[in-house]
Amino acid sequence: SRSLNLAVIPGDGIGQEVVAQGLKVLSSVLPQDVKLETREYDLGAQRWHRTGETLPDAELTDLKGHDAILLGAIGDPTVPSGVLERGLLLKLRFAFDHYVNLRPSKLFPNTATPLAGRPEIDFVVVREGTEGPYTGNGGSLRTGTPAEVATEVSVNTAYGVERVVRDAFERANSRPRKKLTLVHKNNVLVYAGHLWKNIFDAVAAEYPDVTTDYLHVDAATIFFVTQPERFDVIVTDNLFGDILTDLAAAVTGGIGLAASGNINPTGTFPSMFEPVHGSAPDIAGTGKADPTATILSVALLLRHLGFEPEAVRIEEAVTADLAGRDGTVRTTDEIGDALAARVAG
Ligand code: NAD
Ligand code: IPM
Ligand code: MN
Repeated sequence: SRSLNLAVIPGDGIGQEVVAQGLKVLSSVLPQDVKLETREYDLGAQRWHRTGETLPDAELTDLKGHDAILLGAIGDPTVPSGVLERGLLLKLRFAFDHYVNLRPSKLFPNTATPLAGRPEIDFVVVREGTEGPYTGNGGSLRTGTPAEVATEVSVNTAYGVERVVRDAFERANSRPRKKLTLVHKNNVLVYAGHLWKNIFDAVAAEYPDVTTDYLHVDAATIFFVTQPERFDVIVTDNLFGDILTDLAAAVTGGIGLAASGNINPTGTFPSMFEPVHGSAPDIAGTGKADPTATILSVALLLRHLGFEPEAVRIEEAVTADLAGRDGTVRTTDEIGDALAARVAG
């Protein structure tokens, strides 16, 4: 019989609230013969306040033993900015070599978006996950003085760029439209930009069926809003991908619907699935958080582990749920209950 051994990191703020709904829908969608085991990890702001720890080695090792990780959100206003984001979330992405940060966008029905009525919007951002300005390669001189100098160096290796570009070409090649857009800023960031463009062009030669395109990131933000249909697969660096995917979420139905997967394609380490959004301290504890992004992240998790019919059931339930919405405001719990009922086998 099949099994699913899941690590769960609810984290901070609404992370706790939305993960509870994600697990509810997961138990509801899984067939009886699948043995689901979950282990919850107490990591995040509370743990840091109590012990000063963000992600001890023992827990990192322990997390490695699971099929996948489900994460809510990390970050809290009572903790200095960056401590948990770097010490926990980015540490996991780097340690488990999550070099493909997969962030799909579809236009959802019946949501408040300037793009309503354009159902052909269906693209996926392949965001590089282990390099760029996220590596912590920087520092500050004369800190706190009027002469302070801060650097935050973007690290781009041929190895790191090629592997994520190849992954994006494979994805584009397996989709009906077979189109891949590289987004960068090679008119200004000439070293990293040219590395990306040269590798992109070299790999493109191996994929004659894939139509390729290049956009500077500033222009890409225009087309995300005015011509989102032009995108199929997008490949971009860590920081550009971060910014573009919040924009993509906002224009395709809202940040409460945007799912993501931090994928280690080689399978050496567990992949980690989480909503694109953060811990939303402004609404934490109010029941206003939309758990759909987490529930859709559970669908990505299931697909990654080979539970394709269950992933599709969740995605279809979300579409049906949104289509049937009558404008009544629902709580986090009510949305989770509705989706759990829809996916029940
Ligand atoms: P955020 O995504 O938490 O919130 C931005 C806005 O979107 C807020 O108004 C919030 O209420 C709203 N929002 C977010 N998720 C929602 C949901 N599910 N339903 C309804 N509304 C939702 O971004 P922020 O305010 O920039 O960051 C807050 C904290 O979260 C920071 O500490 C940040 O570092 C962290 N963060 C963590 C992650 C992560 O864990 N992957 C992602 C982004 C931000
Ligand atoms: C995200 C978040 C993270 C990122 C932060 C919290 C480190 O914004 O997952 O999009 O920048 O990748
Ligand atoms: Mn982000």
